[in-house]
Amino acid sequence: MKFTRPVLLAGVASALPHFDSPQQRLLNGLELPDKWLQSKATPGKGKPYTPEHRDPYDSAIDPIGDDLDPLPWRNGKGASVLGPWNWERSRENPDLVRPPSTDHGNVANMRWSFADSHIRIEEGGWTRQTTMRELSTSTELASVNMRLDSGAIRELHWHKEAEWAYVLAGEVRITALDYEGGSFVDDLKEGDLWFFPSGVPHSLQGLGENGTEFLLVFESPGEIGGGKFSEESTFVLTDWLAHTPKSAIAKNFHLDPQVFEHLPAKEKYIFQGSQPGAIDKEKPTGKYVKKSKDNFTYRLLDQPPKVVSGGEVRIADSTNFPLSKTVASAHVTIKPGAIREMHWHPNADEWSFFIKGRARVTIFAAQGEARTFNYVAGDIGIVPRNHGHYVENIGDEDIEMLEVFRADAFRDFSLEQWLLSTPERMVLDTMFADDRESGDAFWNQIKDNKKDEVTKP
Ligand SMILES: *[C@@H]1O[C@H](CO)[C@@H](O)[C@H](O)[C@H]1NC(C)=O
Ligand SMILES: *[C@@H]1O[C@H](CO)[C@@H](O)[C@H](O)[C@H]1NC(C)=O
Repeated sequence: MKFTRPVLLAGVASALPHFDSPQQRLLNGLELPDKWLQSKATPGKGKPYTPEHRDPYDSAIDPIGDDLDPLPWRNGKGASVLGPWNWERSRENPDLVRPPSTDHGNVANMRWSFADSHIRIEEGGWTRQTTMRELSTSTELASVNMRLDSGAIRELHWHKEAEWAYVLAGEVRITALDYEGGSFVDDLKEGDLWFFPSGVPHSLQGLGENGTEFLLVFESPGEIGGGKFSEESTFVLTDWLAHTPKSAIAKNFHLDPQVFEHLPAKEKYIFQGSQPGAIDKEKPTGKYVKKSKDNFTYRLLDQPPKVVSGGEVRIADSTNFPLSKTVASAHVTIKPGAIREMHWHPNADEWSFFIKGRARVTIFAAQGEARTFNYVAGDIGIVPRNHGHYVENIGDEDIEMLEVFRADAFRDFSLEQWLLSTPERMVLDTMFADDRESGDAFWNQIKDNKKDEVTKP
């Protein structure tokens, strides 16, 4: 047998030979993790993903942590798998294989993994992008994941889109010129942000032993379809010079054309540069060079977090990072079992990126429609504006994620805060008309709560 296929036929599973998937071993009674017997790790009755399993509450299961293969069985309905099956993908997407019974309708795809994006490989670095071409619901923002080794340069360039960035690892030097002609140079580390408004020319260079890796998010001013951006279509200095007559370049700089004979023949884009010295030694010193009055950078992870019962929240928007007028962001930590509370964003689509952990997100789209997605490190998620959602940590490590918005400020409405700020009778008549006793318990539980963006299990 070439590949493992857990053909599940109730009652006869153990009669089938040679199936060695973890699911099949469990069914054959060969292994049963202790935690399934005592803890919440085995929600419902019976082993998950079997015909016998029953869970009217649609609890989350973590197939990666619990070494399970998700199969399309739900509360006795469903059937086994006979055809080819991508085990790795279905383990990453347990709620697509067996969606909660509350999912319904045709909600568009809201997930993309950078692992499925094409990588452009260059000298000393690489880059890959996720735009509307990859993820059609990413209409407001486009994104790039880029790596620059020590000394490698993303060359001097500019573009129409505003650029927001988060440093994922290592160190990077950025340079920019502001709208008033002020020069800016700064060195950033993991957890720092930068923001370049539309058209601002800039460069990036990897520092330290291993250079850097970062995430870029692009926003198109005045356009809804900002997600169509391409990192391949920026205005690059060497590309411009390669397509301008040498006589014009010579005239522009008051030199002989021979001076420019060895300019690069085409764009360099990403290339190995020499090691930079300290900023003080390198910053331009010309007679008329002036220092920028803007600050293009913000140390997001240095910000003391808002500590909530199930994690931490840090926010950067135009209120504390004034230059970032069109992109707002939050860095959120969600402890195992905790949930980023049920909420929605009134002012923009959410573009999220998972740095760490495993998550389950159900997106409510009105008209009875909802769809549940799972996310792992390196995945991008979209939640259209006003769509209700939560983010549940289904794994055994913290979730670390970014929420990014095409907006001046971070705004969300919490379901719990909304309800407890509404007259009790209105809430209980709506939710608990048939069960006043549970209604009273519910009201007592929520009425004095303060906002808890990430709430403990
Ligand atoms: C650079 O990478 C190497 C190999 O992965 C690692 O051993 C080293 O600790 C890294 N250095 C820094 C400063 O992170
Ligand atoms: C920009 O602001 C940050 C605070 O987030 C500060 O640490 C940094 O020194 C400032 N950079 C410049 C170049 O002014």
